[in-house]
Amino acid sequence: MPAHYPFALPPLPYPYDAFVHDIDRVTMQIHHDRFFAGYVDNLNRILAPWPQYHDWSLRSLLLRWSELPPEIQQPVRNSAGGVYNHEFYFMSMARPNTTQPDQKLQGAIDRSFGSMESCLQALRSTALSQFGSGYAWLSSDTGGNLHINKTANQDAPVPLYPLLNIDLWEHAYFLTYQNRRDTYIDHFLPLLNWNAASAQYAALLQNQPPYPCP
Ligand SMILES: [Fe+2]
Repeated sequence: MPAHYPFALPPLPYPYDAFVHDIDRVTMQIHHDRFFAGYVDNLNRILAPWPQYHDWSLRSLLLRWSELPPEIQQPVRNSAGGVYNHEFYFMSMARPNTTQPDQKLQGAIDRSFGSMESCLQALRSTALSQFGSGYAWLSSDTGGNLHINKTANQDAPVPLYPLLNIDLWEHAYFLTYQNRRDTYIDHFLPLLNWNAASAQYAALLQNQPPYPCP
Protein backbone atom coordinates (compact mmCIF):
# COMPACT_ATOMS: atom_id res chain seq x y z
CA MET A 1 0.00 0.00 0.00
CA PRO A 2 1.51 3.37 -0.98
CA ALA A 3 2.08 5.70 1.95
CA HIS A 4 -0.12 8.39 0.44
CA TYR A 5 -2.27 9.29 -2.60
CA PRO A 6 -2.74 7.60 -5.01
CA PHE A 7 -3.57 4.62 -2.85
CA ALA A 8 -3.60 1.15 -4.41
CA LEU A 9 -5.38 -2.10 -3.71
CA PRO A 10 -2.92 -4.60 -2.22
CA PRO A 11 -3.24 -8.11 -3.67
CA LEU A 12 -4.99 -10.64 -1.50
CA PRO A 13 -2.09 -12.38 0.30
CA TYR A 14 -3.66 -15.83 -0.12
CA PRO A 15 -6.08 -17.58 -2.53
CA TYR A 16 -9.78 -16.72 -2.39
CA ASP A 17 -10.48 -20.19 -1.01
CA ALA A 18 -7.63 -20.23 1.51
CA PHE A 19 -10.01 -20.46 4.48
CA VAL A 20 -12.97 -21.96 2.68
CA HIS A 21 -14.19 -23.87 5.72
CA ASP A 22 -14.72 -20.58 7.52
CA ILE A 23 -14.90 -17.84 4.87
CA ASP A 24 -16.44 -18.91 1.57
CA ARG A 25 -14.71 -18.16 -1.72
CA VAL A 26 -17.37 -15.80 -3.11
CA THR A 27 -17.42 -13.75 0.08
CA MET A 28 -13.63 -13.45 0.02
CA GLN A 29 -13.60 -12.44 -3.65
CA ILE A 30 -16.37 -9.84 -3.40
CA HIS A 31 -15.00 -8.50 -0.13
CA HIS A 32 -11.51 -7.89 -1.50
CA ASP A 33 -12.12 -7.19 -5.20
CA ARG A 34 -15.23 -5.04 -4.82
CA PHE A 35 -15.58 -3.66 -1.30
CA PHE A 36 -11.89 -3.06 -0.53
CA ALA A 37 -11.20 -1.98 -4.11
CA GLY A 38 -14.21 0.32 -3.98
CA TYR A 39 -12.90 2.13 -0.92
CA VAL A 40 -9.49 2.60 -2.59
CA ASP A 41 -11.08 3.94 -5.77
CA ASN A 42 -13.42 6.25 -3.86
CA LEU A 43 -10.65 7.68 -1.72
CA ASN A 44 -8.48 8.42 -4.77
CA ARG A 45 -11.41 9.97 -6.61
CA ILE A 46 -12.29 12.22 -3.66
CA LEU A 47 -8.69 13.35 -3.14
CA ALA A 48 -7.82 13.81 -6.83
CA PRO A 49 -8.86 17.50 -7.00
CA TRP A 50 -7.03 18.32 -3.74
CA PRO A 51 -3.24 18.08 -4.34
CA GLN A 52 -2.48 19.75 -1.02
CA TYR A 53 -3.54 16.49 0.69
CA HIS A 54 -1.75 14.09 -1.66
CA ASP A 55 1.14 13.60 0.75
CA TRP A 56 -1.11 12.79 3.71
CA SER A 57 -0.89 9.20 4.97
CA LEU A 58 -3.96 7.11 5.69
CA ARG A 59 -3.45 7.67 9.40
CA SER A 60 -3.15 11.41 8.87
CA LEU A 61 -6.39 11.44 6.91
CA LEU A 62 -8.08 9.51 9.71
CA LEU A 63 -6.63 11.59 12.51
CA ARG A 64 -7.00 15.00 10.86
CA TRP A 65 -10.12 14.67 8.68
CA SER A 66 -11.72 17.61 10.50
CA GLU A 67 -9.00 19.87 9.02
CA LEU A 68 -10.12 19.02 5.48
CA PRO A 69 -12.57 21.16 3.49
CA PRO A 70 -16.06 20.55 4.88
CA GLU A 71 -17.38 19.01 1.66
CA ILE A 72 -14.86 16.15 1.72
CA GLN A 73 -14.54 15.58 5.48
CA GLN A 74 -17.07 12.78 5.85
CA PRO A 75 -16.37 11.15 2.45
CA VAL A 76 -12.64 11.03 3.26
CA ARG A 77 -13.32 9.73 6.75
CA ASN A 78 -15.48 6.90 5.37
CA SER A 79 -13.23 5.97 2.46
CA ALA A 80 -9.88 6.28 4.25
CA GLY A 81 -11.33 4.21 7.07
CA GLY A 82 -12.53 1.62 4.55
CA VAL A 83 -9.04 1.35 3.11
CA TYR A 84 -7.22 1.31 6.44
CA ASN A 85 -9.62 -1.12 8.12
CA HIS A 86 -9.70 -3.58 5.25
CA GLU A 87 -5.93 -3.61 4.99
CA PHE A 88 -5.85 -4.85 8.57
CA TYR A 89 -8.75 -7.22 8.06
CA PHE A 90 -7.17 -9.18 5.23
CA MET A 91 -3.89 -9.23 7.13
CA SER A 92 -5.71 -10.57 10.20
CA MET A 93 -6.37 -14.02 8.71
CA ALA A 94 -4.15 -17.10 8.46
CA ARG A 95 -4.86 -20.81 8.30
CA PRO A 96 -6.60 -21.89 11.52
CA ASN A 97 -4.33 -22.30 14.50
CA THR A 98 -1.09 -21.98 12.49
CA THR A 99 0.21 -18.76 14.04
CA GLN A 100 1.04 -17.59 17.52
CA PRO A 101 2.20 -14.41 19.21
CA ASP A 102 5.91 -13.91 19.57
CA GLN A 103 7.40 -13.54 23.02
CA LYS A 104 6.87 -9.78 23.29
CA LEU A 105 3.28 -9.85 22.12
CA GLN A 106 2.48 -12.84 24.32
CA GLY A 107 3.94 -10.93 27.28
CA ALA A 108 1.76 -7.93 26.46
CA ILE A 109 -1.32 -10.17 26.17
CA ASP A 110 -0.57 -11.70 29.55
CA ARG A 111 -0.07 -8.26 31.13
CA SER A 112 -3.19 -6.75 29.62
CA PHE A 113 -5.64 -9.66 29.75
CA GLY A 114 -4.09 -12.37 31.90
CA SER A 115 -3.96 -14.99 29.15
CA MET A 116 -4.63 -15.59 25.47
CA GLU A 117 -7.91 -17.27 26.38
CA SER A 118 -9.07 -14.15 28.23
CA CYS A 119 -7.93 -11.96 25.34
CA LEU A 120 -9.98 -14.00 22.88
CA GLN A 121 -12.99 -13.95 25.20
CA ALA A 122 -12.77 -10.16 25.43
CA LEU A 123 -12.42 -9.86 21.67
CA ARG A 124 -15.42 -12.15 21.17
CA SER A 125 -17.68 -10.32 23.63
CA THR A 126 -16.65 -6.94 22.21
CA ALA A 127 -17.42 -8.12 18.68
CA LEU A 128 -20.79 -9.50 19.77
CA SER A 129 -21.67 -6.22 21.46
CA GLN A 130 -21.18 -4.10 18.33
CA PHE A 131 -24.60 -2.94 17.15
CA GLY A 132 -24.74 -2.64 13.38
CA SER A 133 -21.76 -2.46 11.06
CA GLY A 134 -18.26 -1.98 12.40
CA TYR A 135 -15.16 -3.75 13.63
CA ALA A 136 -13.68 -5.30 16.74
CA TRP A 137 -10.01 -4.51 17.27
CA LEU A 138 -6.90 -5.49 19.15
CA SER A 139 -4.64 -2.45 19.23
CA SER A 140 -1.63 -1.09 21.05
CA ASP A 141 -0.84 2.35 22.36
CA THR A 142 2.64 3.80 21.92
CA GLY A 143 3.59 2.44 25.35
CA GLY A 144 2.96 -1.13 24.19
CA ASN A 145 -0.23 -1.56 26.25
CA LEU A 146 -2.93 -3.55 24.47
CA HIS A 147 -6.54 -2.49 24.07
CA ILE A 148 -9.65 -4.24 22.74
CA ASN A 149 -12.40 -2.02 21.42
CA LYS A 150 -15.01 -1.70 18.72
CA THR A 151 -15.70 0.97 16.14
CA ALA A 152 -18.83 1.73 14.13
CA ASN A 153 -19.10 1.89 10.35
CA GLN A 154 -15.63 2.60 8.90
CA ASP A 155 -14.20 4.37 11.94
CA ALA A 156 -10.69 3.22 12.91
CA PRO A 157 -9.30 2.98 16.45
CA VAL A 158 -6.75 5.75 15.87
CA PRO A 159 -4.77 7.17 17.60
CA LEU A 160 -4.22 3.59 18.82
CA TYR A 161 -2.16 1.34 16.53
CA PRO A 162 -4.15 -1.69 15.33
CA LEU A 163 -2.68 -5.17 15.45
CA LEU A 164 -5.69 -7.00 13.99
CA ASN A 165 -9.43 -6.69 13.54
CA ILE A 166 -12.65 -8.56 12.83
CA ASP A 167 -14.86 -7.06 10.13
CA LEU A 168 -18.44 -7.12 11.47
CA TRP A 169 -20.16 -5.81 8.36
CA GLU A 170 -22.68 -8.28 6.96
CA HIS A 171 -20.73 -8.40 3.68
CA ALA A 172 -17.98 -10.23 5.61
CA TYR A 173 -20.15 -13.20 6.56
CA PHE A 174 -23.74 -13.09 5.33
CA LEU A 175 -23.45 -15.56 2.43
CA THR A 176 -22.27 -18.34 4.74
CA TYR A 177 -23.64 -17.37 8.12
CA GLN A 178 -26.67 -15.17 7.29
CA ASN A 179 -27.74 -13.47 10.52
CA ARG A 180 -25.55 -15.69 12.73
CA ARG A 181 -22.81 -13.19 13.49
CA ASP A 182 -21.85 -15.15 16.61
CA THR A 183 -21.08 -18.25 14.51
CA TYR A 184 -18.99 -16.17 12.12
CA ILE A 185 -17.02 -14.73 15.03
CA ASP A 186 -16.44 -18.20 16.47
CA HIS A 187 -15.10 -19.33 13.09
CA PHE A 188 -12.97 -16.22 12.70
CA LEU A 189 -11.13 -16.26 16.03
CA PRO A 190 -9.03 -19.38 15.17
CA LEU A 191 -7.99 -17.66 11.92
CA LEU A 192 -6.41 -14.70 13.66
CA ASN A 193 -2.93 -14.10 12.28
CA TRP A 194 -0.76 -13.73 15.37
CA ASN A 195 2.43 -13.68 13.29
CA ALA A 196 1.25 -10.55 11.49
CA ALA A 197 0.06 -9.00 14.75
CA SER A 198 3.48 -9.71 16.28
CA ALA A 199 5.24 -8.04 13.34
CA GLN A 200 3.01 -5.00 13.67
CA TYR A 201 3.61 -4.87 17.44
CA ALA A 202 7.38 -5.23 17.03
CA ALA A 203 7.49 -2.43 14.46
CA LEU A 204 5.50 -0.22 16.80
CA LEU A 205 7.81 -0.92 19.76
CA GLN A 206 10.83 -0.11 17.61
CA ASN A 207 9.15 3.10 16.48
CA GLN A 208 9.39 1.98 12.87
CA PRO A 209 6.68 2.65 10.34
CA PRO A 210 4.05 0.11 11.39
CA TYR A 211 3.65 -2.98 9.25
CA PRO A 212 1.72 -3.10 6.94
CA CYS A 213 0.13 0.33 7.11
CA PRO A 214 1.89 3.68 6.99
FE1 LIG B 1 -15.52 -5.28 4.94
